[in-house]
This record gives sequence, C-alpha cells and structure tokens, in this order.
Amino acid sequence: MRIPLTRPYITQEIKDKVCEVLDSGYLTEGDVTREFEESVRDYIGCEHAVAVTSCTTGLEVALRALGVGHGDEVVVPDYTYPATASVVDIVGAHIVIVDVDPKTMLVDYDALESAITPRTKAIIPVSLFGNPLDYERLRAIKEKHGVYVVEDAACSIGAEYKGVKVGNLADISVFSLHPRKFITTGEGGIITSNNFEWVEWMRSYKRFGMEVQESHAATSFSRIGTNYKLSDIQAAVGLVQMRHIESLLDRRLQLCRNYLDLLDRQEHVIIPETTAHGKHSRQSFCVFIKNRDEVMDQMRETGIEVQIGTYALHMHKAFNENQNCRIPGDMVNSRYVFDHCLTLPLYDEMTMADQEYVVSMLIKAVAHGE
Ligand SMILES: Cc1ncc(COP(=O)(O)O)c(C=O)c1O
Repeated sequence: MRIPLTRPYITQEIKDKVCEVLDSGYLTEGDVTREFEESVRDYIGCEHAVAVTSCTTGLEVALRALGVGHGDEVVVPDYTYPATASVVDIVGAHIVIVDVDPKTMLVDYDALESAITPRTKAIIPVSLFGNPLDYERLRAIKEKHGVYVVEDAACSIGAEYKGVKVGNLADISVFSLHPRKFITTGEGGIITSNNFEWVEWMRSYKRFGMEVQESHAATSFSRIGTNYKLSDIQAAVGLVQMRHIESLLDRRLQLCRNYLDLLDRQEHVIIPETTAHGKHSRQSFCVFIKNRDEVMDQMRETGIEVQIGTYALHMHKAFNENQNCRIPGDMVNSRYVFDHCLTLPLYDEMTMADQEYVVSMLIKAVAHGE
C-alpha cells in the first residue's frame, strides 16, 4: 500500500480548460489569468488579487511596492520556508529572525515586537500550514510601531480569523500555488491587497514596468520592472480548482476531523494548536512526536509518505553565516518544532481506510520508540 503525502486535484474539467487555452493560441497572461485573479479576489472578499510566478516572487514584489530596501529591517519568524526570509535579502534589506510559539508554530508576537527597531519597515508573519495569525495583535503592533504587515500566506487560502478570510487581514498577503497547496497551478503565486496604489505598482512591476493601459499603441514603461507573469495555461488549472474550493476545503476539514478522532487519547501524539478565533485551512495536517525522525523512517518504509513540517532558519548557513541577518535569541521553540513536527498524508481522494492505516502505522512507530 503506497500513500502519497499529497496529490493535486486534477480532473477532466481542468484538462478541458487547459486544452481550450492551448487551442486558443494565446498562452501568456491574458483573460484566463484575469478571470483566475477575479475568482480569488471574490472568494477572499478583498479588493484586488494579482497573479505572479510564485509566492516567493510575490513576496519580493510586495516588499518592493512598499519601498522596502537598503537600510531597512524586516522581521520574520525562524520556523518557516527559507523564501520568507530570502526575499528580504533579495530586495537589499536586513533580515531579523525571531522565535515562534511552540504550540501554534506561528511567530512569537512578543519576540516579534521586541525585535522592532526604528529601522524596521515591515514584518512578514507566516500563517503556517493554514493556521491563521492573530491579526488583532498584528494590527496593534503595526499601529504602535508604524510597520507594514506583509503576510506570507503561502499555505493559507481558505483560512479565516473571526470570520474574515486570510488575504483580507494584512497590508499585503501572498499565497503559493505550488503543488503542495490544494489550489495549485504547478508553480505560481497570488498577491492580495486592498490598497489600489500598491496593486497598480505591483501589476506594472511584474510586467516589465509597463503602465497598465488598454491601448497597445500608448504603451509606456514608467519604471524598471521584471517578468513575473503567470501564463493562461497555468491560470486555467487554478481557475477550475477555484470553482470547487468550498467542497475541496470541506473535504480537507473532514479528513482532518477523522485524523483527530483516530488520534484521540494518543498521549504521545500532540496536536498543534489553532489560533484562537481562527479557522485552520489544514494545508498540512501536522502532529508533534518525540521520536520524529525514527517514526518518519519507519512510516516511509511501509509506503507512507510523511514529511517534516518546515525548516528552522537559524540552523542554516544562508542565515546563520549571513552578515545581513540578525538572529536575536536562542530559537529554542523553533528548534523544538523543527525536531518534533511530522506532516501526515492529506489529499482529496484519501479514504477513511487510508487514514486508519496511516494512524495505525504512526501509533506502532511511536510505541517502538517508547
Ligand atoms: C511558508 C512558505 N513561504 C513561502 C513558500 C514559497 O512558495 P513558492 O514555492 O510558491 O515560491 C513556501 C513554499 O512551500 C512556504 O511554505
């Protein structure tokens, strides 16, 4: 029995839409990408959505739109995918890395606030694995210190805080469309914001610095820009998936409830906490266990594809030997979650029998280490 970590939702409806784009002869960013952006915007309930080539390039564009660059500091959590911090260096700003909360795995808000200096221009909190942040706390930090909040929402389409969807709660939020995410275009990203000026700047920057105009004859380039456009071929996949996002999300949440029931009263398997007043979108279903590496090896041997959560940046040369990076504190919580977090398989077509098998193998492997 082989159980993959994830499997993208690809149906005949999606294949038909991709073929429609291919047959049209128009393959770059066009009407289908615009329609995809609108579907994300309407789903989230925000004012603007801008498609880009990845969450990483989206975060970079967001920082540039806010004028973050040389001489500025940007605070990020230690427990995250490296891209969250790399983009700070890419735009020429200084990376400041702070610890996380060991129960939610999200940024430690006290550590975040303590790391803010007069040079701090922005913070990039991460709604990791689909767990929404405490946006009230972030708003208070923003107001007190005058910093921009750029949310790394790579994993959190569908998550909510107090009934408001992620993507509508920070200055700028950026989602990933990588195949580990349940809305995926192969590679891709989507930026959301309610600020028209920033959005216009980002739209222009990702299209070579072009002014957004109806008439090609009047095209002008008002700034240096780059090419981070999503193609209509990719957008076709995302557009059809967005038509089914509610049922895809419901299915994920049901599968996670099954996991929680199956793991009930397993004292050696700890379930991470969801932010108070938050709706977790369960991009990943994670647990904490003591002998994680051993369990991971054993489960993989039985054909179950399990994975670590994500990375602790302070353990990597790219950050700990980087003159452009400050790491105040010992990162003890981040190290704990890095060592103990295990991601279990989760995908739309997973059956209850698959889940029972995964949990039985998990419990067996955990018991082996006791
Ligand atoms: C928290 C986080 N940020 C950023 C990224 C990078 O996303 P992308 O691959 O779309 O650039 C990922 C990818 O998994 C991620 O998990």
